[in-house]
Amino acid sequence: MQKTIELVDYEPSTDSSLEEIMSGLGRKQKELPCKLFYDEDGSDLYEQITQLEAYYPTRVESAIMRSNVSEIASLIGPHSAIIEYGSGSSEKTRILLRALDSPTAYIPIDISKEHLLRAACDIADEFPELDVLPVCADYHENLKLPEPDSHVQKKIVYFPGSTIGNFHRGEARDFLSRIRQILDEEDGVLIGVDLEKDVSVLELAYDDPEGVTAAFNLNILRRLNREFGAEFQLHNFTHRSLYNKEHCRIEMHLVSNLDQTVVLDGTSIDLAQGETIWTESSYKYTPDSFEKLTREAGFEVERVWTDPDQFFSVQFLKPSL
Ligand code: AVI
Repeated sequence: MQKTIELVDYEPSTDSSLEEIMSGLGRKQKELPCKLFYDEDGSDLYEQITQLEAYYPTRVESAIMRSNVSEIASLIGPHSAIIEYGSGSSEKTRILLRALDSPTAYIPIDISKEHLLRAACDIADEFPELDVLPVCADYHENLKLPEPDSHVQKKIVYFPGSTIGNFHRGEARDFLSRIRQILDEEDGVLIGVDLEKDVSVLELAYDDPEGVTAAFNLNILRRLNREFGAEFQLHNFTHRSLYNKEHCRIEMHLVSNLDQTVVLDGTSIDLAQGETIWTESSYKYTPDSFEKLTREAGFEVERVWTDPDQFFSVQFLKPSL
């Protein structure tokens, strides 16, 4: 018999306010919040990106998880509750849950209700003993999480996919500090962190030959047209990804192909030919630079696993005493 899954729904707004959008487009370097990527189409496109040959992070992180999952499971121990921030399809979580000793609960948190419920149901089917407690929310906010029915020995925050890379450094530190506040001394964080590497590998990963990342980036304008009545002509923009060495981050931009004026909410936005709208940053770390960040947030790095090319890392953090 199928178990009923109870959703805790914070009814997060998946869009940004018009005010936030207009303020970003009013800056000298025009910007849009990357949160706007993830409408239904954008979430599907992101899933497609994760399957691409050029986009190494998902494939390499899964391989690291598979190769080291026994050690990860023994560090975590029995009767854990896994709290996953931005769970998406929960693909890597399965690798973890299969290896864990009698996990008590799985608490996936995601902003996209459909993706969240689909993944939660699949996990509940595969792990009938597990208390699956999905939370539909924007995990950037402080959340009260549901309490599992049975005893939990350790809480483990799982944050895979190098999503931490989409935060600017100060935001990443604040986010980890907030996670620290919901954890006790014996708990931990298992986090995926993308590493610095050859620029050509990075730029290809964010500008794949199939054009899926370009479609993902341009979808943000389609969304502004649909939801805010903007009049962006998508063919007047080109996707660009570049590695900013000074800040150790990939930046995604939309380049204006010509001088143009776009109307949004009655305001005219002028774009010169070659001018860009900055849509996303994806920071890359070294083991040392990430360790410094975690220390500032109240954690110690207990263990780092990587792949033979040192492209990606999975790290286990514990609260510093
Ligand atoms: C979700 N996040 C970790 C992805 C990344 O690699 O920064 C988003 C992405 N943007 C373009 N491709 C993938």
